[in-house]
Amino acid sequence: MCGIVGYTGNLQAASIILDGLSKLEYRGYDSAGIAVLNEKGHTEVVKAKGRLQNLIDKTDSGKAIKGTCGIGHTRWATHGEPSQINAHPHVSSNSSDISSDNNSEVIGVHNGIIENYLEIKEKLANSGYQFYSQTDTEILIKLIDYYYNKYDHNPLSAISHSMIRVKGSYAIEVMFSDYPEEIYVARKDSPIIIGLKDDASFIASDVPAILKYTNSVYYLDNMEMARITKGHAQFYNIDCKEIEKEVTQIQWDAQTAEKGGYQHFMMKEICEQPKAVRDTLNSLIKDNQIILNEKLNIDSEYIKNLNKITIVACGSAWHVGMIGQYVIENIAKVEVRVELASEFRYRNPLIKKDDLIIVISQSGETADSLAALRLAKQSGCHTLAIVNVVGSSIAREADNVLYTLAGPEIAVATTKAYSAQLVSIYSLAVCFGYIREAFDEDKYHYYVNELLSIPEKIDKILENKERIQWFAFKYSNARDAFFIGRGIDYGISLEGSLKFKETSYIHSEAYAAGELKHGTISLIEDNTLVIGVLTQSHLYKKTISNMVECKTRGAYLMGLTNYGNYQIEDTSDFTVYIPKLEENFAGSLAVIPLQLLAYYVSVSKGIDPDKPRNLAKSVTVE
Ligand code: F6R
Repeated sequence: MCGIVGYTGNLQAASIILDGLSKLEYRGYDSAGIAVLNEKGHTEVVKAKGRLQNLIDKTDSGKAIKGTCGIGHTRWATHGEPSQINAHPHVSSNSSDISSDNNSEVIGVHNGIIENYLEIKEKLANSGYQFYSQTDTEILIKLIDYYYNKYDHNPLSAISHSMIRVKGSYAIEVMFSDYPEEIYVARKDSPIIIGLKDDASFIASDVPAILKYTNSVYYLDNMEMARITKGHAQFYNIDCKEIEKEVTQIQWDAQTAEKGGYQHFMMKEICEQPKAVRDTLNSLIKDNQIILNEKLNIDSEYIKNLNKITIVACGSAWHVGMIGQYVIENIAKVEVRVELASEFRYRNPLIKKDDLIIVISQSGETADSLAALRLAKQSGCHTLAIVNVVGSSIAREADNVLYTLAGPEIAVATTKAYSAQLVSIYSLAVCFGYIREAFDEDKYHYYVNELLSIPEKIDKILENKERIQWFAFKYSNARDAFFIGRGIDYGISLEGSLKFKETSYIHSEAYAAGELKHGTISLIEDNTLVIGVLTQSHLYKKTISNMVECKTRGAYLMGLTNYGNYQIEDTSDFTVYIPKLEENFAGSLAVIPLQLLAYYVSVSKGIDPDKPRNLAKSVTVE
């Protein structure tokens, strides 16, 4: 999705806004724009298609735009092609004239989608409005302008009436030229935060944009608005009644959200996995006891009587659920289903009161996952969110939240948040299994020790990354790749394949190894890359047979297995070994070489792995 930044204070706004946008570029990057309002109510709007750098160059790093109050936006197109005219900010006048002295101008940016924009467009056209762009945002800004003129030039009334009128999701940031030095924001289902420091105020759709300036932030909730002046923020509900909000202290520092010497965020985040996993485990295990149930205040009787767990998520977080399904059923002996949030939300799922719904999400803002959570809550069952971003929508709306401590994840393709989610699920499986008396105390201590050994073993794999780099360069011109495995190894294959395709643009599929021969094997030809994942000893021979089937059809085989399984070299052409670990937890190790493979193939093809085409970090539209 797109990124929003705003500033009002005593300094020149444009360079602060551009700097903030650069921290949000991962959210969307097909065009960008900025609007600055000076104390005389004169607005200057500058937009550029393409990377943010184009806007930075066009404005001489912001120096060319004078004024101390402004808003900015990086866009990822939904309505209307990526172009300068469709880029935000949008204005209430009849042209997108980049410099405007109009009286009573409304200027705004928007994240999200206005679903009924065509109907509103028609209504506005009947009132004499004309439109210069193809965006729903221009219509929203003109609707605010319409109500602004109708309700005595009162910004809050104009915004609240517009919020009632529109359907969809949005975070909006608006300036009114009659109110220099003020910015108004509102939200529904799309995040927006406000940070204050001395006599300056900062607005952003995500924390990294303003961390450099302040750690104290306010999270706007759904159907709330805020009026922001220099160093102050007043909050309002939809009836324009002032409300109190609590400030949240962000624990990350700005440096944690920067590249820190690495060429790309993706590699930095791959290498941060031992820490992300250790920090997450340390928050769940104290004195060799898993305290997850106490931390979440979940009653033991409830855990003992659980009927079923349903894990709902999207993308890589769904892959965590796929592995979690095997691990929780193996260890805790509770039935588990895994659902894609985008399917779950529309299929009238049968949810019982004694079911537990777990929603997994790095951002905590994924639209489908949020909708699935709301649906689950309506059924009256208990909901648990496993989320990385503190204060995000999913974290705030679930009955319980378990925070992964991966820190800010900037690269679009998730790595460290995925790993932190995985160990959270393992800890839950062991905690629930022990309470349900699925195994004895010795086994419990064995599981806990194995969990605690994961960070060090990830470190060991990372020490050998050059071998994967060599292989990646050799195979970077592959046309297709197939990742195969059974059980937990199938779950790992799903994640390996997604990482590979999204960062290298090479077609790739993950297959349950035994399923390959039911059709897909027809795609295997000379030199097709097949990666077999074999961490589960009871399935080892079965998957080897499936790899042999591929080799017979000409495939080039990479094997990924545990140290000790050296006979694999009779079959595979290239082998990667991972340290021995309790096999239920093997996903945490096996995924690391696959992330490295995806990263190195991407780099060797000259692709920016941090910003793969057509993708956005936070998918706040369905
Ligand atoms: C893939 C990836 C995505 C996300 C998915 C869910 O590398 O990052 O598939 O996992 O969009 O996002 P969250 O976890 O924020 O709900």
